[in-house]
Parts: sequence; structure tokens; C-alpha cells
Amino acid sequence: MRRREVLLGGAAALAVLPGTARGTAEPSHRLVAAERRTRIIDAPSTVWSYGDTLFPIVRARVGEPFRAVLENRLAEHSSIHWHGVRVPNAMDGVPYLTQPPVEPGQRFTYEFTPSDTGTTFFHPHCDTVQQLGRGLVGVLIVEGDAVDRYDADIVAVLKDWRVAEDGAWLPFLTDEGAGKAGTFGTVRTINGARTPRLEVPAYGLIRLRVLNVDPTRVSEVGLTGAGAAVIATDGNPLGPLPLESWRLGPAMRLDLAVAAPGPGEEAVLVDYFAPEPVELARLVGVGAGARRPFEPKALAPSGVPKPDLAEAQRQRFTFSASAAPSDLVLPGGEVLRYADELCLSGRTRWAINQATWPMASHERLPPPLATFERGRSYVMELVNVTPHQHPVHIHGHTWHVLRSSKREIVPHLADTVLLAPRERLEVAFVADNPGDWMLHCHVIEHQETGMMGIVRVA
Ligand code: C2O
Ligand code: CU
Ligand code: CU
Repeated sequence: MRRREVLLGGAAALAVLPGTARGTAEPSHRLVAAERRTRIIDAPSTVWSYGDTLFPIVRARVGEPFRAVLENRLAEHSSIHWHGVRVPNAMDGVPYLTQPPVEPGQRFTYEFTPSDTGTTFFHPHCDTVQQLGRGLVGVLIVEGDAVDRYDADIVAVLKDWRVAEDGAWLPFLTDEGAGKAGTFGTVRTINGARTPRLEVPAYGLIRLRVLNVDPTRVSEVGLTGAGAAVIATDGNPLGPLPLESWRLGPAMRLDLAVAAPGPGEEAVLVDYFAPEPVELARLVGVGAGARRPFEPKALAPSGVPKPDLAEAQRQRFTFSASAAPSDLVLPGGEVLRYADELCLSGRTRWAINQATWPMASHERLPPPLATFERGRSYVMELVNVTPHQHPVHIHGHTWHVLRSSKREIVPHLADTVLLAPRERLEVAFVADNPGDWMLHCHVIEHQETGMMGIVRVA
């Protein structure tokens, strides 16, 4: 066995333990957040992960209760946010806002019944720049959408690492990066490996789930050497649409139906974002198999409610640099730092509607940027007045992406949308999930330096 395979045999399924809580029969997934030694490069690194493999895959079924226990064996507090899942507010995993932080040695049980199918992921929501940077991410697949019978279901998790040549971590947050496009990793990986070869049944119909969990990098995903069609965005059904390439900002996902290459042949997952295309992974056909026509079917329709666009109220959210000072110096010289209690770095650089995620203790969360009336439809106008890209994410809801001031949009569903520099994007939704929800940029350095706020549904 090669070294990397000891821990990083690619994303692997998690053990399912019989449920004990409340004496019910449904299984509990056990997610143990802990430091583990592994190799991203030849030298060892200490990653933080939810299991013995990086990026464990947890499966749930739509409409059936799901339960996962987070056990925190890290030296700092944590929580799990179920990104892209319309969970009840108390299960949303945002420390101080929806639950107390899970302290070292503590456990927290997440229980909800997913109402939507699809490819989602989970991650902490505190000191995210470090916790996610070190590897604390898992994949949640909510099953029940497949109409076709796929010969294989492959997960490709895109994540870079801020790793030095000796395996130690480089700073996850830098002044330069936080104020611009973010700090990029030094090593790019898929499922924790550099340009892995993923075996697929030759000529089979493959479901390929691509997740960009990187805190910073935007990728433009394409596939050469095989037929491919987009079947979902952020886990929500779309198409099938022939794939040319699809831009995935941090936190965005893309499901593809792929006609696998023949025996011994390869298809290459490529990132076209950089001037020179980058090979991300190779899909290698194995086994016999006979060539067949590629006619992928649409996934089962989504249950995300349709907004009433005629009645919808419009609200503008402007994403900008912040005019606020970093720290507040009190007379006498005492320095009040921004939001230490809220897991942020000591500086603010970014704002939403002029409000930067403020200096506050956890008793003093900022007021909501907006209050949405429960059950009503809204169009959010997301306006980027900066020269940088911002993948904007809303918790607890799924947007219908309608139109852009800059590009043709195929209407689709998303929980994260990539705002290009100076772009105005319109997204609509029904505010049907009561609670206080985060709205933030998913370039984690932007989030942690102010580009975050609360929206209330009441
Ligand atoms: Cu994936 Cu609030 O984030
Ligand atoms: Cu989220
Ligand atoms: Cu941003």
C-alpha cells in the first residue's frame, strides 16, 4: 500500500452506528473532529478531519430522519454547518447564533429530515479559515433523486492546501489575501490526492459529483475525453445540459452525468480558470463493458418552493470593501478587537450593505441586515461593487438564480452564487424557514474579515 492510501485512499464511506438516542432505529453517523497525521505531499502534515479519512461521505435519504453526532476532540471549539441543506434553524451549526459552540471534549447531535436531494457538504462555522484550511470538511449526499441507474457514483472534492515543503502549514489568513482574492493553497488536490486516477466502469453511465470546498479558489470545471452533461447545481436538479465548462466558486457543487471512457481509456477533469488548463483528476475506464448511447435523464424534480415573482418584494444587498476601522482604540489606549468571540480575525475589510460583521461579544450579535416575512417571496439583488469575485451563500434557503447584469444565466437553483467583479445578480426565494440565517461570502478570509451578516425570517 502506498503511504497516502493509508489515510487518504480518497473519500471513503463512514461507519454507521446503530442509533441509541431516543431508542429509535435510524442510524447515527459519528463524526469525530480530531487532529490526524497524514501526507498531502511527501512530508507529513497534521490535518483536522471528521474521520480516519479526509472528506468522509455521509449518505442520507430525502424525507427520512438523519442523525449525526459531532464529537469534538480538537483543542478548540467547533460545530457542524450543513451547507446547502434546508435544516431547521437550531440544526444550522452556527456557534452563538443557532447553538452554543461545541467545546473540546463535548458532543452535539444534529438531527433533521432533509427535504431536498443532492450533493451537499458540511464544515465548521468558527475559526473556519483554520478548521477548513486544515481539512475539516465532509460530504453529505441526500439520495432519492436518481432516475437513471448509474454504474458508479464518484465524488471529486476540490481542495487546496496551504502546506510548506516540510509539511507544516503556512498562514491560512494573510493580510494580502484577505484584502484581495484570498490566500491560495500551494498544493491542489482532488479527494486529498494530486491528480488522482479514479477508476470507472468502462462505457458505464457515471454520476460525477464535483464539490469545490476550497476556501479561496474558483475553478472552471470541464471534462475532456468523455461525454458529460450537467444534471445538478449545488445538488439541485438542472438539465441535462451538455457540459462545456462550469464555473465553481468556493462552496459550489456540480453534478455531471458522464459517459465513461472505454477500457484503458481516460477522461480528464480539467480546470480552465487559469490561463493554462490544470488537470484535476483522470477517470480511467476499467472492465469490459459495451459502448452505448449517452442519453442521461433528468434527476427527479426539486421540492424547493417556487417564488411568486409577480408579488416578490425586492431587496438590495451590496457587497463592498469596508470603510470601518479595524479595531477600536478607546481613550486610554485600550484596543477593542473585532469579534474575537465570533471566531473572526482581528480585522475587517469587507461589508454587506455598509455593515461589517461587527465587533461584538456573543451576547451582542449584530442586528439583521434584513427581515423577511415568513412565507413571502423575495428577489435579492446581489451587487458586487468590488474588483474581486465573491461566492455569496445563504443559509437555510435555496435561491432561484434569475439573471445577471453581465452574463447569460441558465435559470437554476443554488445556495451559493459567484458574483463577478461589478456584477449585479438577481436571485429569488420563498422565505419559508424561520430563524436567523447567515448570509456571507464563502471566500473564508472575506467572511472572517467582515463580509457576513444575518438575515431574519419571521
Ligand atoms: Cu458553507 Cu455559512 O457556510
Ligand atoms: Cu451554509
Ligand atoms: Cu468575497
